[in-house]
Amino acid sequence: MRANDIRAKAGEEPVTMLTAYDAPTATVVEEAGVDIALVGDSVGNLRLGHDSTLPVTVEEIASRTAAVARATADVFVLADMPFLSYGADEAEAIQNCGRMVKEAGADGVKLESGPHTVDLTRRLTQLGIPVQAHLGLTPQRENETGLFRQGTDEESATEIVELAQAHEEAGAFSLVLEHVPANLGAAVTDALDIPTIGIGAGPDCDGQVLTVDEVIGLSEDVAPFSKRFGDVREEMASAIEGYVDAVEDGTFPADEHSYVEDELDDLY
Ligand code: KIV
Ligand code: NA
Repeated sequence: MRANDIRAKAGEEPVTMLTAYDAPTATVVEEAGVDIALVGDSVGNLRLGHDSTLPVTVEEIASRTAAVARATADVFVLADMPFLSYGADEAEAIQNCGRMVKEAGADGVKLESGPHTVDLTRRLTQLGIPVQAHLGLTPQRENETGLFRQGTDEESATEIVELAQAHEEAGAFSLVLEHVPANLGAAVTDALDIPTIGIGAGPDCDGQVLTVDEVIGLSEDVAPFSKRFGDVREEMASAIEGYVDAVEDGTFPADEHSYVEDELDDLY
């Protein structure tokens, strides 16, 4: 899957995108037919015990991107660039984004977008690093905005539409829209040729994205705009409790889990 294949789906076929942070999850995500596996900075909250995405490092995203890329063949592997790894200095941003492609095996990068990412999106695209834009709620700015729905009045909705068009013009191959009113999701989708991929942005986007931890029911909490499609947490709890009980009551290990070396019988 290439950026152009994703681009071509706009208005034709729904784009499916889901996070993946490790090799085994990535194989399941790929086998289920997901188009884009996002190595999201949500790994900070969901897997690393942080209470925001802000502490996530370039190393952490690079290492997990490499794991996802090694485990998959066709799914588009998208590295989510962490807080302050882009946007301050262009050369440093290009180096950080380039590392995801050159060293980790990503097929593209996602940047939480704003006025400061239009030129960077153009430059990266020219260099051959596909860029997915991200507007609406951009959690890396949570200390500025809070984690609330964005684009709820005319001025902020207009700003999102204009920034979406600016990023499309700069070469972005798709755009995530997070936590905006459904009618704004529809309006941005109408205004663009590239696919919009919504999370809490209503049913009219060209595609949808969620975190895999919410979808499989691994995380304890589920955002109101997200949905659990399974209960992996319950499965994990019952397996782990089963193991603890079996060790405590002596039923594990059983004979079939052990090996006796006859030669040692004479010695001990
Ligand atoms: O990090 C993430 O999981 C994301 C998606 C929710 C779009 O950015
Ligand atoms: Na993210």
